[in-house]
Amino acid sequence: MNTIYALSLLIVGLISFSYCDVHDKPEACKTPDQWEGNFYSYDSIKRIRILGKISYDAKNQRERIHQVFVLPHKNQTYDMLYLYHKKMLLVNNLVSNSCSKVSLTRPWTHFGVVKNSKYFGSNYLGAEEMEEDSLKIQTWKDEFVDNNGNHVFHVSTWTHKNCLPVFDNYITTDSSLHTMYMDITPGIEDESVFEPSSICDESETD
Ligand SMILES: *[C@@H]1O[C@H](CO)[C@@H](O)[C@H](O)[C@H]1NC(C)=O
Repeated sequence: MNTIYALSLLIVGLISFSYCDVHDKPEACKTPDQWEGNFYSYDSIKRIRILGKISYDAKNQRERIHQVFVLPHKNQTYDMLYLYHKKMLLVNNLVSNSCSKVSLTRPWTHFGVVKNSKYFGSNYLGAEEMEEDSLKIQTWKDEFVDNNGNHVFHVSTWTHKNCLPVFDNYITTDSSLHTMYMDITPGIEDESVFEPSSICDESETD
């Protein structure tokens, strides 16, 4: 077993023991129906950083995710539009200015704690005693096998009250992707965020 992988499992294990608060187990939660926010991801094994923005709309089963992959020589920027009711994913590569339409076969799932997750406990970010500087969070763990047959460990942390995403971590043998979610706002500021860009309108389905 790879050392970093072993280390991350150990750390996850320690967190679970030190913060377990089983008397206060919340329900597996779902995020609100519509929100927008920024995220920062890094893969500590693959050494990739991603800066992103997400618009999430469970009411109409659609998501828009803008991602900048920060790479040493040339960044790559993708604008992805997931239209589940049309079973379609539009991937707009903003560097090459090309769009691909991909059929989206997986069903819509609400963003939130995955079914059959194990509750890790609740704790506070910041200081519990200083209300204006504290955030109560809940952490959950699940494991699954991905489409490529990799065994994935997933740990996710959500706000206690509204189930907004705070952090998540997907760990396989050759990757450990951490994501931090920030500046979440309720609702969708501008519905046109879910309209395909004109470049995508002209492209054929792959
Ligand atoms: C890539 O994006 C980052 C973050 O926006 C920026 O600081 C950096 O200068 C960009 N790199 C290149 C090569 O354009």
